[in-house]
Amino acid sequence: MSTSENLPPNAYRLPRSNQLEGLMTIIRDKNTSRGEFIFYSDRIIRLLVEEGLNHLPTLPKQITTETGEDYDGVGFEGKVCGVSILRAGEAMESALRECLRSVRIGKVLVQRNEETGEARLYYAKLPEDIHERFVLLLDPMLATGGSAIRAIEVLLSKGVKQDKIVFLNVLSAPEGLKVMYEKYPKMKIVTGWVDRKLDERNYIVPGLGDFGDRYFA
Ligand code: PRP
Ligand code: URA
Repeated sequence: MSTSENLPPNAYRLPRSNQLEGLMTIIRDKNTSRGEFIFYSDRIIRLLVEEGLNHLPTLPKQITTETGEDYDGVGFEGKVCGVSILRAGEAMESALRECLRSVRIGKVLVQRNEETGEARLYYAKLPEDIHERFVLLLDPMLATGGSAIRAIEVLLSKGVKQDKIVFLNVLSAPEGLKVMYEKYPKMKIVTGWVDRKLDERNYIVPGLGDFGDRYFA
C-alpha cells in the first residue's frame, strides 16, 4: 500500500505492481469483451477489498491453539458492513462476501445525470444498526465525487461516524479525491489507480468508460 505526494492524506492506492498494471490495461481496453471485463475487474476488486480490510482497526485477541499454547492475536474491533452505490457498486459485493462471510450489505441508488454529471439520490436501504458499524463504501468509479457525496450524506444522517467509513474504488480522478478530502478528511479512501483528470463530460481520462455499462449492460 502506498501513499503518494500527489494524493490527499486520507487516500491510499494499491501498489503499482506489474500484475495490477496488466489487469488495469485489460479493463481499460475498449476491445475487451464484457466477460473479460467482469473477470478482470473482479480480480482488481478482490485486491481492493483485501487492502480495504487492512484499514479497519483491530483489538488484541488471545486464543489457544491446537497445541494448547496461548496465542496473542488480533480481531476486528467492531462490526462491519458494506454499502454499495448502485448500479456499479453492486459489482463489488461478491468480493466483499468472499472476504467477510455473511457480511451485511446496504444499498444506495445514486445516478449521475448524463448531461450535467449531477448526482441524484433515488433510494437507500441500510442495516438498522449501521451507526454501530464500520462501513466499507463500494463504488468502482470516483469522478467528480458527486455520487459518493450523496451516499455519504445518507450514511452520516443515519449516525455513521466519518472516521468509520472506508471508501473503496477501482479508478479515481484527482478532482474527486480532492473534493472527498475537503469534505470528509476523516474518511479513508482506498483506490486501485489515480488517473490524469476529468474530461468535459466529467468522465475519467484515460479511464475505462462507463463501468456500470461495461459490467452489467
Ligand atoms: C458512475 C459510477 C459512480 C459515478 C461516479 O455511476 O459508478 O457512481 O458514476 O461519478 P461521480 O464521481 O462524478 O459522481 P452512474 O451514475 O453512471 O451510474 P451506474 O452505476 O448505473 O453506471
Ligand atoms: N462513471 C463512470 O462509470 N466512468 C467515468 O469515467 C465517470 C463516472
